[in-house]
Amino acid sequence: DTVEWDPEETGKSGYDHYMIKEIHEQPRALRQCLRERVDEMAGTVDLDDLGDLSPTGVQFVACGTSYHAALYGAHLFREAGIPAQAFLASEYATSVPPIGDALVIGVTQSGETADTLSALRAAEKRGARTLVVTNVVGSTAARECDHAFYIRAGPEIGVAASKTFSSQLAALNLLTLGMTQGDDTREVINALRELPGDLQRILDESSAEAVAELYQDAGAYFFIGRGLQFPVALEGALKMKEITYKHAEGFAAGELKHGPLALVTADTPVFAVVIGDDEKARKTVGNVKEVEARDAPVVAITDGQTDVHRYADHVLQIPETHPRAAAVLANAHLQLLSYHTAAKLGRNIDKPRNLAKSVTVE
Ligand code: G6P
Repeated sequence: DTVEWDPEETGKSGYDHYMIKEIHEQPRALRQCLRERVDEMAGTVDLDDLGDLSPTGVQFVACGTSYHAALYGAHLFREAGIPAQAFLASEYATSVPPIGDALVIGVTQSGETADTLSALRAAEKRGARTLVVTNVVGSTAARECDHAFYIRAGPEIGVAASKTFSSQLAALNLLTLGMTQGDDTREVINALRELPGDLQRILDESSAEAVAELYQDAGAYFFIGRGLQFPVALEGALKMKEITYKHAEGFAAGELKHGPLALVTADTPVFAVVIGDDEKARKTVGNVKEVEARDAPVVAITDGQTDVHRYADHVLQIPETHPRAAAVLANAHLQLLSYHTAAKLGRNIDKPRNLAKSVTVE
């Protein structure tokens, strides 16, 4: 299950940094992830040779960006009626939850992260079936787990994960569609098919650089989202920390009022991901009003279905699509926001201080 990547592509091909090159590779990486796995006519998904896993429960283990993908994946399984939870790999082994006959899924770009490997080993020791969602064929996790599902994003050189996160989200959609009986399989398949093109348009048209310019001197950055968009808020904040060294936090939108609101001032822009116009979205708009009333600048990342723009200083627009695909699109704006903020601050974007691409110690 390998994908051929031209060795020439491992250069920066005219981009200033690997990270921005990799951000721009996302439409293609997504197409690679979906290729020959989705039968649009039949509305079905073929999970390579994973066989029939049909789990009765799922426990995800992962670190960093991959943990945010795992939170998203757990949400998808729960939507399909399967009990699922995401754990930080470094915490999992400190008190392994009862596994029963759950499937334990590691999400790891490199397949070499020590914390994730040790959580998977702890699960295996207790007799669990294990599966890894990874980018690297032949990695330790791919070899040690019972099953491997490849995200096929191609090599990622920038230390901060970008395209691999999008591909992890796409792969987790495929996994849930292939393993469960969801109600809206067709809609999700259609949204996934449109995702590379939609993402390309965001990369071409995003005004994230102008927003980065305005707020590059902010004291802190907060990101909020609800449901499927909560992991996007966490990932937006992590990216900002990693490559700009600025203080950034992601919060579940509903938690804001339970403490973090005390931090919100005119010097702390709040980035709110608001998708759709259901009750969840309307509640998040309510949270946006709360921060706006405290004079915080508000940037809405939205498909425009609510009136959040009325309370926002800036809007980063995404097209109307399935909320699962919207998460990938919203995240692309936030990747560009962090990238351009870091570039303006003159940071070492591809190799941020103190960080490593793959952490092989616990
Ligand atoms: C390191 C990297 C992060 C990454 C995390 C998990 O901390 O700096 O960008 O998200 O490891 O890596 P993995 O390869 O397991 O996805």
